[in-house]
Amino acid sequence: MMILLYLMFCLWSTSIATNKRISKPNIVLFMADDLGIGDLGCYGNTTLRTPNIDILAKRGIKLTQHIAASPLCTPSRAAFLTGRYPVRSGMASLHHVGVFLFSASSGGLPTEEITFARLLQQEGYTTALIGKWHLGINCHSNDDYCHHPLNHGFNYFYGFPVNNIRDCKPEHGSVFQRGIKMYSPTILQITGLALISLGVLHYLGLLRISHRVLGFFILMAAVLIGILLFFFYNFRYLNCFLMRNYSIIQQPWSYKNLTQRFTEEAKRFIRRNTDAPFLLFLSYPQVHTALFASQLFRGKSKHGLYGDAVEEMDWSIGQILQTLDQLNLSMQTLVYFTSDHGAHVEEISDNGDIHGGSNGIYKGGKATNWEGGIRVPGLLYWPGVLNPDISIDEPTSNMDVFPTIVKLAGAQLPHDRIIDGRDLMPLLQGIAVFSKHEFLFHYCNAYLNAVRWHPRNSKSIWKAFFFTPKFSPEGANGCFESHVCFCHGNFVTYHDPPLLFDLSKDPEEKHPLTPETESDFYEILHTIQQAMSDHTQSLMAVPNQLSLGNIMWKPWLQPCCSSFLKFCYCNHEP
Ligand SMILES: *[C@@H]1O[C@H](CO)[C@@H](O)[C@H](O)[C@H]1NC(C)=O
Repeated sequence: MMILLYLMFCLWSTSIATNKRISKPNIVLFMADDLGIGDLGCYGNTTLRTPNIDILAKRGIKLTQHIAASPLCTPSRAAFLTGRYPVRSGMASLHHVGVFLFSASSGGLPTEEITFARLLQQEGYTTALIGKWHLGINCHSNDDYCHHPLNHGFNYFYGFPVNNIRDCKPEHGSVFQRGIKMYSPTILQITGLALISLGVLHYLGLLRISHRVLGFFILMAAVLIGILLFFFYNFRYLNCFLMRNYSIIQQPWSYKNLTQRFTEEAKRFIRRNTDAPFLLFLSYPQVHTALFASQLFRGKSKHGLYGDAVEEMDWSIGQILQTLDQLNLSMQTLVYFTSDHGAHVEEISDNGDIHGGSNGIYKGGKATNWEGGIRVPGLLYWPGVLNPDISIDEPTSNMDVFPTIVKLAGAQLPHDRIIDGRDLMPLLQGIAVFSKHEFLFHYCNAYLNAVRWHPRNSKSIWKAFFFTPKFSPEGANGCFESHVCFCHGNFVTYHDPPLLFDLSKDPEEKHPLTPETESDFYEILHTIQQAMSDHTQSLMAVPNQLSLGNIMWKPWLQPCCSSFLKFCYCNHEP
């Protein structure tokens, strides 16, 4: 009897001990921007040095089929923070532009959406976002901050509300020039055609316009062009600024020691919060163009400025891991590393340098749902709880972080909405063998592009594409002529029946299956169609946050740290 009681006591106390270790850990989330899965040592790169990120894999868990919910920044990040497909929150575009470009646009992550930061905050966590946001700022005025990180569950924000792009860095080229070059022939044609038709109508006597009205139209056109020129000339001042909480502290931001500043901020945040659980989301602007690296890293890698930027980011991650160790927090902290989507393979600088990363063996990249666009690094490190040096090949999603950390924090998942992510812990701890994702839906902006099916009873990973991007020039591994692939219209090829692959045998997506090569061809497609229609029926109509009206520049929403006459310039950084 005594022995039995003793045994029961032992069981009870060990279960308390493990529970204690597992409940309310600190959470550190690293997210890189545009980093490819083939850029990291732990995923097979032999020439780029990423020793600190590799440590996460060696001492933790490496996911080899970790899938971003979207191949573009804004929707992927919206899905990451909410655990839901971007279409559910209206964060998926119906036209060509799939991300926010301006600080003065009205779209953003809707206030009704619940981020993991908010749920953790409600559980007593202190939460910080350091780095890039890219999910909107204001709705109606330039200081309502309806979409701002502090309005979405973060106690502290230090970083970029929008995005780092070439136009933010002098002499690093321009994204808009490319766009203007691409569309200006069309615009000129339309304007020319309009003028000619006006002339003809006038000549035929079908339309009488006085010279005054004509002059007015010409003046209006000139003013409009003037405003546009002013805007693009001052892009850096209007969109590339650094905020601390609600204040703009550097407009435009300076690239000088930027990584050091982000790293210091993160370290200070950790040191301030050693007594209570914290959530740190360190969202690096690397390795999106404009690329940058500080003196210590410039010219040091074997892969130009791109490699230097990766290696500096890796250094920064090492600093954070060291800080956790020094403060004895490693055993109570779950660390996660990922990239928002695949590398932007079309990124080549004006003088021909490769500014896009590597997606390893995978096809395509950013903005496509080929594996190169969505298969991202996924590393989880938590000494004492997760076993070291384990590789998991099951399909997982970046949306899974939401339910995983919400549960670890002791919070309830929201009951009033669909959460698409699934708790990763059973898989990570080896309790479950199969992923809870039998199906994953791959969207290109708001268009359902492909479905992945991993049947429970088989090793196969089926992936069916309803359309694929038209690579240009033909035979290239990307859309080099338009710099980025698009999701609909003439930019894609539609497939009926869908293009089917088995990723377990053909991860490079080279050999589409046919009824001849795959005897279950039609049954597989039938199951996929069924899952797709169930999924589509679960979607609800919501306002589109990336509509043209919501992404356009609205001067009255322009955040500006000084008077407009001082050109929105200020610098409160050391
Ligand atoms: C390593 O990364 C660099 C930079 O993206 C790339 O050029 C190279 O091909 C990669 N190497 C491998 C083996 O993937």
